[in-house]
Amino acid sequence: MRLVADSLTFAHPGRAPVLHEVQLDVRVGESVAVVGPSGSGKTTLLALLGGLLRPGSGRVFVERADEQLPVANHVSWVLQTVNVLSDRSVLDNVAVGTFADGLDRGAAATRAHAALDAVGLAGTADRAVRTLSGGEAQRVVIARAAVSDRPVLLADEPTGQLDQDTSAHVIDALLRSAADKIVVVVTHDPAVAARCSRTLKLGAAQLLAGAS
Ligand SMILES: Nc1ncnc2c1ncn2[C@@H]1O[C@H](COP(=O)(O)OP(=O)(O)OP(=O)(O)O)[C@@H](O)[C@H]1O
Ligand SMILES: [Mg+2]
Repeated sequence: MRLVADSLTFAHPGRAPVLHEVQLDVRVGESVAVVGPSGSGKTTLLALLGGLLRPGSGRVFVERADEQLPVANHVSWVLQTVNVLSDRSVLDNVAVGTFADGLDRGAAATRAHAALDAVGLAGTADRAVRTLSGGEAQRVVIARAAVSDRPVLLADEPTGQLDQDTSAHVIDALLRSAADKIVVVVTHDPAVAARCSRTLKLGAAQLLAGAS
């Protein structure tokens, strides 16, 4: 399976184009870091890749066997703004997507505990998410994406709220859990980008170079 963005061009309504002819082709087992200055279109690109926005021109699709499929139902998200069900338990927040995708509750809970362990949150499963710190809540969102069976993982600054040591630990856990997925990670952190298989730079260079 692969995720393909072909010649993506996009402008927000009434604004100058932010993305121009972006090319991306990511296979299962690969991770791409998207880097670039604030405002260069990184979050916009993720929204296009995940089917939340439609490109002005160009196409995004997932290719499986010889079929080209829309991406929306194949994606799990780690968003820049932490989005959690804050009154529900940590465990429920991690497992919620897998229930929705049809996994039974026992299996989902087992998987969720393992994912919480991997991001350093063992022992928090029964706490309401609103009692966690910002960085801990962000790790709950990462664990939720890790337990998903969806083949495409899109993450926007997943380690933005974490200190350097925790960030290294968590990004390793994320990439390990996604070893058989397609991963696109927006990041400002060169240490996170260095852990990915390759880097796509947005900004002026993107007009000329695209994926490198
Ligand atoms: N909904 C929107 N409507 C209009 N303009 C938008 C919208 N969302 C983003 N933009 C503009 O598009 C450009 C790219 O925004 P985007 O959020 O993709 O940047 P980014 O690279 O993710 O930045 P950051 O590193 O600060 O998160 C910016 O100039 C931003 O102001
Ligand atoms: Mg952004």
